[in-house]
Amino acid sequence: MRIEVVKSISIPDTRGRATVETTLRSNNFTATASVPSGKSTGAHEAKELRDEDGGVSGAIANVTGEIAEALATREFSSPQEIDSFLCELDGTQDKSRLGANAILSVSISATRLFAQEAGIPLWKYISETYSTTPSAPRFFVNVMNGGAHANFRLPIQEYILVVGEPTVAESFETTEKAFKLLGEKLRAESTELPMGDEGGYSPKFSEIERPFELLSELVLKYPNTSIAIDAAANELRNQSGGYTLIGKDYSTEELLEMYKSLVNKFPFHAIEDPFSEDDVAGFVATTKALGNQIIIIGDDLIVTNPKRIDDAVSKKSINAVLIKPNQIGTVSEAAEAVKKTHSAGWKTVCSHRSGETHDTFIADFAYGMGTHGIKAGGFGQQVRREKYERLQAIEKEITS
Ligand code: PGA
Ligand code: ZN
Repeated sequence: MRIEVVKSISIPDTRGRATVETTLRSNNFTATASVPSGKSTGAHEAKELRDEDGGVSGAIANVTGEIAEALATREFSSPQEIDSFLCELDGTQDKSRLGANAILSVSISATRLFAQEAGIPLWKYISETYSTTPSAPRFFVNVMNGGAHANFRLPIQEYILVVGEPTVAESFETTEKAFKLLGEKLRAESTELPMGDEGGYSPKFSEIERPFELLSELVLKYPNTSIAIDAAANELRNQSGGYTLIGKDYSTEELLEMYKSLVNKFPFHAIEDPFSEDDVAGFVATTKALGNQIIIIGDDLIVTNPKRIDDAVSKKSINAVLIKPNQIGTVSEAAEAVKKTHSAGWKTVCSHRSGETHDTFIADFAYGMGTHGIKAGGFGQQVRREKYERLQAIEKEITS
C-alpha cells in the first residue's frame, strides 16, 4: 500500500484541550483517527508533543511535514511495517521527538486503511494481523469519578462497576439501568452531584466505605456485575513517602490492610494501581495477598510497555495489565503488550484516557485482541458511551 495524502488537524478533547486528528489516503481508501490524552499519567509513558501553550501545532507539523514526506518514499505491506518505520524515524525511546500523539494518530489511521484494503471489519483485521482469538470484553464502567478527575471529591480516582453479561447488548442494558439507579441513590443522599472527567457521578463522601456500600447494592440487584477500583495511587503519594486519603496518612502496609478489608467485605473483581509506580514492593505485597481472589492491574506501573511487562512477570508484581495505546504510541506495540500479558497467563483491560475524542478504535482493538475487559468511562458522557455502542455494533455484525 502507498500512502498518497496525509492531513492532520487540531480538535478539542473532552476537557477542551487540543489533540491530534490525522487522515490518511491510499489509492482507494481514506481513514481518520484522533488520539486521547491522560491527566493522571505515568512517568514512563511515551511523550505526547505539546506546544508551550498546550496546543499541538508542533505534533501536527510533524505529521504533515517529516512523517508525510518519509511515508511518501515507499510502499508498506503491513501496519507493523509502518509502525516500526515510524519508531525508527522518531529515533527516541519515548517518541518524544516526533510526539507519541503524532505517531499514534498515523498508526491507528494506517491500521484502518489496511483493514479497508483487506475488505474486513477493523476488529477482525486486528485479530488476523496479530493472530488472536477475538471476544467481547467485560465492561469496566467508571460510575463514580474521584481523585484527579474530580478535584478529589472522592479519594479514589475510579469506582468501577464491572459488567459481564452473556452478550454485549445485555451488558449495555444492565449498565444503563445500574448507572441510572446509582444516580437516583446518590441524588437521594447528596445535595450536589456533579459529573467527573470520565462521565461518572462525582458525589462527596467522607467515609471510605460508603461508595462501596452503594456499589454492593447494584451488584446485589445485577448478579453479573462486580466491583473494581483504580486507586491511581501516584496521585495519593505524600511528601513523606506514604499515601494520603481524605486527610489521613497511610504507610504502604496500612494502605494494603485497607484494600484487604475492602476486598473481604465487598464483591471485588479488580484493583488497578493500588500503589504508586515507584512502590513496586507495594504491588508485590498486594498480588501476594489478594492475587488469588481478584486481579491486580498495572497501569502507571506498566504504561503498556512490553519491556516493563517482562519486568513485572519476573517480580510477580501484578497479574493483569491495563492497555492504553497512547501510553506506548503505536498499535503494534500495544498489541505486543497484550500478547505478552496473555502468554504470561495474565489478563488485560483495554482503556481509554480521561481526555477522550469520538474515536472508537479501542472498542475494535479490545474485541479483536480478545481482552478481558474494556474501561471506557461512565454513561454520563456521549464520548464514553460511543465505545460501548461500537462493541454492540460489532456484536450485531457477527450475529447477523
Ligand atoms: P488518565 O486516567 O487517562 O487521566 O491517565 C486513566 C487511568 O488512570 O486509568
Ligand atoms: Zn489507571
